[in-house]
Amino acid sequence: MIIAKSFLLLLCFIALVNGESSPDEAVIMIALRDSLNLTGSLNWSGSDPCKWSLVQCDDTSNRVTAIQIGGKGISGTLPPDLGNLTSLTKFEVMRNHLTGPIPSLAGLKSLVTVYANDNDFTSVPVDFFTGLSSLQSVSLDNNPFVSWKIPPSLEDATALADFSAVNCNLSGEIPGFLGGKNFSSLTTLKLSYNSLVGELPMNFSESRVEILMLNGQKGAEKLHGSISVLQNMTALTNVTLQGNSFSGPLPNCSRLVSLKSFNVRENQLTGLVPPSLFELQSLSDVALGNNLLQGPTPNFTAPNIKPDMTGLNSFCLDTPGTPCDPRVNTLLSIVEAFGYPVNFAEKWKGNDPCNRWVGITCTGTDITVINFKNLGLNGTISPLFADLASLQVINLSQNNLSGTIPQELTKLSNLKTLDVSNNRLCGEVPVSNTTIFVVITSGNSDINKECPKSSGDGGKKASRNAGKIVGSVIGILLALLLIGFAIFLLVKKKKQYHKMHPQQQSSDQDAFKITIENLCTGGSESGFSGNDAHLGEAGNIVISIQVLRDATDNFDEKNILGRGGFGIVYKGELHDGTKIAVKRMESSIISGKGLDEFKSEIAVLTRVRHRNLVVLHGYCLEGNERLLVYQYMPQGTLSRHMFHWQEEGLKPLEWTRRLSIALDVARGVEYLHTLAHQSFIHRDLKPSNILLGDDMHAKVADFGLVRLAPEGTQSIETKIAGTFGYLAPEYAVTGRVTTKVDVYSFGVILMELLTGRKALDATRSEEEVHLATWFRRMFINKDSFPKAIDQTIEVNEETLGSINIVAELANQCSSREPRDRPDMNHVVNVLVSLVVQWKPTERSSDSDDIYGIDYDTPLPQLILDSSYFGDNTLMSIPSRPSELESTFKSGQGR
Ligand SMILES: *[C@@H]1O[C@H](CO)[C@@H](O)[C@H](O)[C@H]1NC(C)=O
Ligand SMILES: *[C@@H]1O[C@H](CO)[C@@H](O)[C@H](O)[C@H]1NC(C)=O
Ligand SMILES: *[C@@H]1O[C@H](CO)[C@@H](O)[C@H](O)[C@H]1NC(C)=O
Ligand SMILES: *[C@@H]1O[C@H](CO)[C@@H](O)[C@H](O)[C@H]1NC(C)=O
Ligand SMILES: *[C@@H]1O[C@H](CO)[C@@H](O)[C@H](O)[C@H]1NC(C)=O
Ligand SMILES: *[C@@H]1O[C@H](CO)[C@@H](O)[C@H](O)[C@H]1NC(C)=O
Ligand SMILES: *[C@@H]1O[C@H](CO)[C@@H](O)[C@H](O)[C@H]1NC(C)=O
Ligand SMILES: *[C@@H]1O[C@H](CO)[C@@H](O)[C@H](O)[C@H]1NC(C)=O
Ligand SMILES: *[C@@H]1O[C@H](CO)[C@@H](O)[C@H](O)[C@H]1NC(C)=O
Repeated sequence: MIIAKSFLLLLCFIALVNGESSPDEAVIMIALRDSLNLTGSLNWSGSDPCKWSLVQCDDTSNRVTAIQIGGKGISGTLPPDLGNLTSLTKFEVMRNHLTGPIPSLAGLKSLVTVYANDNDFTSVPVDFFTGLSSLQSVSLDNNPFVSWKIPPSLEDATALADFSAVNCNLSGEIPGFLGGKNFSSLTTLKLSYNSLVGELPMNFSESRVEILMLNGQKGAEKLHGSISVLQNMTALTNVTLQGNSFSGPLPNCSRLVSLKSFNVRENQLTGLVPPSLFELQSLSDVALGNNLLQGPTPNFTAPNIKPDMTGLNSFCLDTPGTPCDPRVNTLLSIVEAFGYPVNFAEKWKGNDPCNRWVGITCTGTDITVINFKNLGLNGTISPLFADLASLQVINLSQNNLSGTIPQELTKLSNLKTLDVSNNRLCGEVPVSNTTIFVVITSGNSDINKECPKSSGDGGKKASRNAGKIVGSVIGILLALLLIGFAIFLLVKKKKQYHKMHPQQQSSDQDAFKITIENLCTGGSESGFSGNDAHLGEAGNIVISIQVLRDATDNFDEKNILGRGGFGIVYKGELHDGTKIAVKRMESSIISGKGLDEFKSEIAVLTRVRHRNLVVLHGYCLEGNERLLVYQYMPQGTLSRHMFHWQEEGLKPLEWTRRLSIALDVARGVEYLHTLAHQSFIHRDLKPSNILLGDDMHAKVADFGLVRLAPEGTQSIETKIAGTFGYLAPEYAVTGRVTTKVDVYSFGVILMELLTGRKALDATRSEEEVHLATWFRRMFINKDSFPKAIDQTIEVNEETLGSINIVAELANQCSSREPRDRPDMNHVVNVLVSLVVQWKPTERSSDSDDIYGIDYDTPLPQLILDSSYFGDNTLMSIPSRPSELESTFKSGQGR
């Protein structure tokens, strides 16, 4: 008996010792059983959980190691203390109807798997993963959690191989640590159908993930940004990113040698499908539809591939593998350097860039203008612009471009303007030794400075180029004025200044001196100290003296075109055959007055452009040299054709030709007076300042005497400049200048065109010396007038009508009283009617405007022309001459 009793006690004792902590675990397990509704699904009877079905215990310690009750139709909740089952390795309750919170399993060092997917759990505690250093597989899919984020505690789970949290109301961003070195075991990451936002972390570059599923994020924001990090994820086999907002180009897939399935449908991906993807031999499923992919439709070549090509993209042609037009390829390479922005991918459809592609303007099939102004572009300027040889204008202003301006752009022999203002460019501005084009670089604080180290390649390239450039010929060193901008700022500054110092008599002229001196002194860098920001933003076309020496055979006598008040004009030819006219002032003339005229001329010419005004290509201020470089006008001056045609072996000008020249001149002067954004007065209009092109169209030259008409005052008192014979009486007597001074001179030119006589001709009898006086006398008498007409003009019934009208006009223009003279726009209207009447088929010069650009007119007009660049903020409405002339001020000349 006693022995039997003792034996029983012993058994009990053994039992007790054996399950040292199992009573605790039993309590927890019983609590679990009680909170679940196990009706019939599991046999969990008795008090020893180690005997329950689908529960496993450790043989020696009797501790619960596994609870695997998935798919048993169980409802109920989980008790809070499951985390006390310290030996638990597997906790699998998936595919039931469990509700309530998932309890914390923090600290379960042995836990390997947690499957809680496909239940009705309501939350995951923030510390759920704390200390789960053995955790390998987690599935939380398909639970209606309150919105939650992947908890930081997951960072402890460094053994993780398979993490799945699909469709479980996950929000926030994908934590970077999942892609990091510590998670090198992670091979499956499924986070589909949540509300994740943010980008694919760059850390994933080191990830060994094979299966990556991030598709179908809900909400407006979704996952976005680049997927370029995929190119380093060499273990990838299955990638599904469908239905997000990923953008930018597809990754280079050449290292993704295991990739079998690649689904990026319904994103915002742009750019070319890389050959590394469509030639990838491991690939069997690929879906690219409903993106903005560009270039040729890919021709997938893997043996068993089933490409899903449904949905839209922006491929150039539908047939797989058919190459795009070369222009398309080049444009795509150019926007590649900007990261293939969505804007272009959406709007560049088909295979013809000349068919209304945004930012592209063509002449015929040649791309002549690229205007990417203010498109928020990032990235760099591609050297491949150089492949579009027909380009005349490149406008990349007001973007966020970095790096350098590629040297290759100097190969563009037709390029006239490169506007890169207001970006973040650095390094040297490239110079060409063959062509002249304007580079506008204002608003780039690091331009002409070494690139910051971070921009790596760009910096190296710039200094390499700088090396090449040393001693090179054409130095379009500084880029050009955003002239309108400079003026705008100057005027603004002046106004502010006047507000602060109302008694101070500053002037635009002075402001301009500052600008020009800042520009020109000391060559390429010193003018741009950066302290004087708005002045420093000015720039101009600087051409090196060496180029001009080469172009003019070192200013050889035989190249002299003419001599003027301020210097000698030489003919020159650049390496590429472009002809130029170089106006050179010897150092002796340049001091004082000459230098002022020179600066005045630069200031005006860089601000005023028109097809009937001679184009200034650039200038040179080196040492004592002061040179201006103009467009070469092959037919020379109007006076050559009017007064020297016999010596030169030319034909006398026909009347209709004279009419059209008069109209050209009138238009140029009208522009000066009213259409340029501020009013200018030429002050020295005469036939030797009117130049003719091969088409015999005229341009007005020599603005050296022009003075800027200041705002707010109606006339300018200044020292007399001009040429006798053309001087308006009030100007000659008082020195006061209004636009009517030019109208007077123009009237004299009309008289010259009518009579073939010079404005002043000392060889004639006294009463005929002064043309204007003589003409008026002859005109009054209808009988004498026909004798005044140039003998070389064929006067017939047809011409006589217009001769009479022009004579009347000449008379009005040269009226003694300024108020009796018409405005230039009236003159233009009168002449237009005559030219149209006589030459009905001649294209009016306005019809030359394609897209509003006069390609003969390099810079400022393009800038100022709001119809093209679309942004009119820098322009002010021109003041009409009628407003300018109404009062005369007396006082000392300035
Ligand atoms: C347990 O499940 C049965 C059948 O699914 C159901 O009828 C019963 O109401 C449930 N009991 C509890 C307490 O949830
Ligand atoms: C449940 O298991 C116990 C032993 O663990 C057994 O005795 C009993 O018969 C089982 N019941 C059913 C319904 O299977
Ligand atoms: C679980 O462990 C905690 C602390 O270790 C303890 O406070 C709690 O009472 C335990 N729960 C059960 C049911 O043993
Ligand atoms: C996700 O969480 C939010 C906020 O907790 C909740 O309003 C919403 O109903 C949840 N969505 C789902 C599908 O459970
Ligand atoms: C790919 O890896 C290389 C080397 O580790 C790194 O320099 C590069 O930035 C990575 N690229 C991406 C897109 O993550
Ligand atoms: C991976 O992609 C292959 C090819 O499409 C497919 O057969 C396989 O089932 C996918 N694996 C997973 C886990 O999705
Ligand atoms: C597409 O690829 C196949 C297989 O490599 C090739 O035979 C075919 O010529 C390619 N088509 C085009 C248009 O390049
Ligand atoms: C340039 O980068 C900014 C900031 O990353 C971005 O918001 C913008 O969309 C980018 N621009 C383009 C055209 O891609
Ligand atoms: C222009 O410069 C390049 C290199 O800077 C040189 O190779 C080329 O010969 C030069 N061309 C002329 C016409 O001087």
